[in-house]
Amino acid sequence: MYLCICRAIREREVDAAVRAGARRPVDVFRACGKNPQCGGCANEMRKRIDQTIACEQAAAPTLMAAD
Ligand code: FES
Repeated sequence: MYLCICRAIREREVDAAVRAGARRPVDVFRACGKNPQCGGCANEMRKRIDQTIACEQAAAPTLMAAD
């Protein structure tokens, strides 16, 4: 599904950009080699970025301190 219609950026591309370190919509555009146009996707892109970060954190192994 496209998150950014103007620049044809899909959810999976946002996810890949987040895994590569993107934390803001502008980072995603940069990672995709595109520039924002209307900016109408910014809120949905932020939500997707936050969701992807939350999923990554939930999936990350927890290091437990040895007693
Ligand atoms: S929908 Fe993303 S810049 Fe227009």
